Amino acid sequence: MSRKMKNKVLHNLKIERIATEGKCVGHHEGKVVFVSNVAPGDLVDARVTRGRSSFMEAEAIAIHEHSPDRVIPFCEHFGTCGGCKWQHISYELQMAYKRQQVVDQFQRIAKVPLPEVMPIIGAGNTRYYRNKLDFTFSNNRWLTREEIDSGEDFERNALGFHIPKRFDKIVDIKHCYLQGSLSNEIRNGLREFALAENLSFYDIIGQTGLLRNLIIRTAQEDQVMVIVQFGEDDPDGIEKVMRFLKENIPGITSLLYIVNLKKNETFQDLDVHVYAGKDHIEETMEGLRFKIGPKSFYQTNSQQAYRLYQVAREFAGLTGEETVYDLYTGTGTIANFVAGNAQQVIGIEYVEPAIADAKENALLNGITNTLFYAGDMKAVLNESFVSQYQKPDVVITDPPRAGMHEDVVEMLLHLEATKIVYVSCNPATQARDVALLSAKYHVKRIQPVDMFPQTYHVENVVLLELKSNDDQ
Ligand SMILES: C[S@@+](CC[C@H](N)C(=O)[O-])C[C@H]1O[C@@H](n2cnc3c(N)ncnc32)[C@H](O)[C@@H]1O
Repeated sequence: MSRKMKNKVLHNLKIERIATEGKCVGHHEGKVVFVSNVAPGDLVDARVTRGRSSFMEAEAIAIHEHSPDRVIPFCEHFGTCGGCKWQHISYELQMAYKRQQVVDQFQRIAKVPLPEVMPIIGAGNTRYYRNKLDFTFSNNRWLTREEIDSGEDFERNALGFHIPKRFDKIVDIKHCYLQGSLSNEIRNGLREFALAENLSFYDIIGQTGLLRNLIIRTAQEDQVMVIVQFGEDDPDGIEKVMRFLKENIPGITSLLYIVNLKKNETFQDLDVHVYAGKDHIEETMEGLRFKIGPKSFYQTNSQQAYRLYQVAREFAGLTGEETVYDLYTGTGTIANFVAGNAQQVIGIEYVEPAIADAKENALLNGITNTLFYAGDMKAVLNESFVSQYQKPDVVITDPPRAGMHEDVVEMLLHLEATKIVYVSCNPATQARDVALLSAKYHVKRIQPVDMFPQTYHVENVVLLELKSNDDQ
């Protein structure tokens, strides 16, 4: 089997099970085939998109038999939009598959004695659960095959999400099931206004156009932040748009804008202007307040973030006496959340504004036993740091998808904290790091949490306990 297989159609391929990253597995002449956007139990024809000696990747082009596990997707954009790719699978099965992903990755990669992986903590809200969405304006709307075949002319301006793997094409979103509150009203209202007023939508190739990007952030208690990014510094156009939002959508509590003439949409280095309302929104968790500015990170599913942090705190089993290190602390949410149960908590994170937020949130809540440091983990977490701030009794670590740098893992093995609570959004790299840590640690508990219903993403918390000298 080789690259020559590319574009070949595999007929009557039985889809057997879910693999990683939402892909499913079938077999063709003894070789594994990874197929996207199908469900276990489907019988499909699939076109090969990538052929390798040991496996192939393919996309389904016809479904002959539908899996009995399929459900009808609820969103009209399903299949085109890149979000919510598991809508065709019931939520019960999504949860089972996510748990199974954790089991598979730990058995395949960690290869250490494991406790039973707990049933995943499912989400109360399987729709309208995100507190942040990022929409793009474009003059290059994605057209459906029927629209193209009709030969008619269509409106090409769009406000919505990128088509997977296409930086230049946007699906025009009519209703998004990811964000509640006013989100759909704001996006649709702004698009209608912009079309009626003939305002220009961004042209990513030519790097022109007034309307560039729309971010909507919400907090649980009816606070709504809207950030509009403009691709041209046109005061009249900007005023028109912002006035429209202010006058027509009174639920917005923080109305902000940015003029972004750069090649990309990131705005950490740009000025954010307050047009109306406050410069931030506020989230609460167990009475703690978290200030969220336009540049602040906050977990995008607030309710499930709370469940996740509860698991982390329970695994940490703090008595009030411990020194806790919260590695990759972001805006210090976990550190501030567990501070009441520890003697001191030290958070480390390399994004300086996030550390500034972490400190501000500690102050806002009268927390005096958290300390935060900005810097690259492998550089900050060294002997002199540890001797300055005491060795940790418990380490909570929540690295990015790539997992921890091996120098950081080395340092953790050297520090010998009694417990390590490892939170991860990527069980594969987590399992890899756990394998290294198993030189000194037992895996005691494994608890997946569902932060992103309708997607294949899974968050997982692992409790590691230091082996006694006899065990090592
Ligand atoms: C999964 S997030 C953690 C979020 C945080 N624990 C929370 O719940 O809000 C991972 C964090 O690691 C930070 N990070 C990534 N690489 C890093 C590094 N090499 N050194 C320090 N921090 C890093 C990122 O900026 C990000 O804030």
